[in-house]
Amino acid sequence: MNAPGRHSIISSRMARIKQSASNAAGARARELQAAGRDIISLANGEPDFPTPDNIKAAAIEAMRREETKYTDVDGTPALKQAVREKFKRENGLDYETSQITIGTGGKQVIYNTLMCTLEPGDEVIIAAPHWVSYTDMTLLGEAKPVLVNCSPERGFKMHPEDLDRAITPRTKWVILNSPNNPSGATYSHAELKQLTDVLLRHPHVWILTDDIYEHLLYDGNRFATVAQIEPNLYERTLTVNGVSKTYAMTGWRIGYAGGPKPLIDTIRKLQSQSTSNPSSISQAAAVEALTGPQDFIPRHAAVFQQRRDVAVEMLNRAAGLYCHKPEGAFYVFPSCAGLIGRKTPQGKVIASDLEFTLYLLDSFGVAVVQGDAYNMAPYFRISYATSMEQLKEGLGAFSRHARNCREPA
Ligand SMILES: Cc1ncc(COP(=O)(O)O)c(C=O)c1O
Repeated sequence: MNAPGRHSIISSRMARIKQSASNAAGARARELQAAGRDIISLANGEPDFPTPDNIKAAAIEAMRREETKYTDVDGTPALKQAVREKFKRENGLDYETSQITIGTGGKQVIYNTLMCTLEPGDEVIIAAPHWVSYTDMTLLGEAKPVLVNCSPERGFKMHPEDLDRAITPRTKWVILNSPNNPSGATYSHAELKQLTDVLLRHPHVWILTDDIYEHLLYDGNRFATVAQIEPNLYERTLTVNGVSKTYAMTGWRIGYAGGPKPLIDTIRKLQSQSTSNPSSISQAAAVEALTGPQDFIPRHAAVFQQRRDVAVEMLNRAAGLYCHKPEGAFYVFPSCAGLIGRKTPQGKVIASDLEFTLYLLDSFGVAVVQGDAYNMAPYFRISYATSMEQLKEGLGAFSRHARNCREPA
């Protein structure tokens, strides 16, 4: 096939982006599994818990009531009301239902937002390491991702001076994501306030806060979001969230956001010309998720915290690795700098985090995602959204590996 562009069926727009690396890693592990290999996947970005029964029952009830037809393009009145109450109850944020949009996952909400707002030449500030899609969506919008490097010494968090330095007259958005995928880093109230103080001084900059891991917080840390911490930023903040991670509902595809009405109206216009409404059945299930019993959420978080502790301890015992202990989400993001340049038993020099992750998959049947995918090398992401047994077995590969690898001759 010709290179993308004028003489090719593929647009040059598509040449700017790559397939989501975390999806690709999961797919590679599934491929090997299908071929009969025993694979332990520590690559999944979704809770291993089942969707709670009351939520499934609400979906079945919705089908029985024939709620199987088109709904309002950006969500049913019932779900918008449930989201409105959630924002009030959990975040102290007041949004009218006309300020709320429902999409097919938080992913669609973020995609819609960037497509509705970016102009060629605009800049979007993203703290690295970051969720794979922010940069590619920005590039699709013909804008420029501006990465702010956040090292483990700083807990993978953006410092206010670094944010200030990254802002230019062309900055349109700053994307914040706490707890973070892939590092698990979580901003405290005080840390977030330092960032919002900077943002107050730059009134042309909008803030997209991706709060999808809000409820996966450990060690008694409390969640904070931008418009709650700094009400003066309410008018230029989009607060994005969803049911995927908190309610173990990744396959149901429901995400939502609250924000200024003109932006929400424009998102509705785009959605009306692309996917229309998210699944009517999933929307009914999401109403139950947000309004039904919430008691399992801290129970899940406690299980995740135990697994995080085991993961951090086992990784820090493996020679050549260093793992920062994160405050939230269900990921750890260890450095494999100490292994770069070493030789595998097969005699291959490990030159990058990607090569390290491929070697892990081939030699030990353990799937993780290379840090390069999140714009930070040489690191890799481990998801502990898997059983403790699988986690321990998978992590065991790291100490076996470290013993096997030699210094280059
Ligand atoms: C940081 C972050 N934001 C957004 C999403 C999108 O989630 P969903 O589209 O399932 O709501 C994900 C999923 O992995 C994520 O990790």
